[in-house]
Amino acid sequence: MLTKGNIYAMRFAIENLPSGVPVVEIGSFCGLSANVISYLLKIAGKNNKIFCCDKWIFEGSENGPNLGNSQISHKDYRNFVKSSFIRNIEFFSPDNKPFAVEQTSDEFFLLWQKHAKANDIFGRTTILGGEIAFAYIDGNHTYEFAKRDFKNIDKSLELGGFILFDDSSDADPFGLSKLMKEIKHNSNYQVVMKNPNYLFKKIA
Ligand SMILES: C[S@@+](CC[C@H](N)C(=O)[O-])C[C@H]1O[C@@H](n2cnc3c(N)ncnc32)[C@H](O)[C@@H]1O
Repeated sequence: MLTKGNIYAMRFAIENLPSGVPVVEIGSFCGLSANVISYLLKIAGKNNKIFCCDKWIFEGSENGPNLGNSQISHKDYRNFVKSSFIRNIEFFSPDNKPFAVEQTSDEFFLLWQKHAKANDIFGRTTILGGEIAFAYIDGNHTYEFAKRDFKNIDKSLELGGFILFDDSSDADPFGLSKLMKEIKHNSNYQVVMKNPNYLFKKIA
């Protein structure tokens, strides 16, 4: 969920980006945080490209045809969310649309590390890869997935770059406290703020 604390941390990271290399978002849902990142870049006068990934396959979709006890099928829900993302981005960020790759983060980083050619859901094509200045991690929030996202980002994050983890607050019972403890003990990273989610800076 996009909390005020996350927006503050994003704004700090964006105002202090070390360079003009890309910003990456993992997990986009309907596009709210991608639009906020796009807006914050704009008001900071930064031209960093935004890349995001989401396959819009939601937890629980394997447990039956419909969302809970509703009449809404998982297929219709997925199409609704994905088309909401497209509509929201086209309306709010027409001049700095994220390059939106319809892949899981594992698949996205494989392509990123291979400098692969990729298509996005707006019909554009580009070559992925290179350094990353800021990453917002908001995909699968389990320890294993978020840790792989961290390791993948770490391979490309430039010195002075930032990572913000959603749902990473110390008080969050479903959060990423184990992973946050590990990164706090990683001498290459410094905690910039806990607001209450963790924003880290790469310092070595
Ligand atoms: C909490 S929502 C993201 C909300 C969005 N960042 C915002 O604030 O507007 C989580 C999203 O992560 C996506 N997701 C789940 N697992 C993922 C994975 N392995 N790779 C990429 N995205 C994933 C889901 O499809 C869902 O859309």
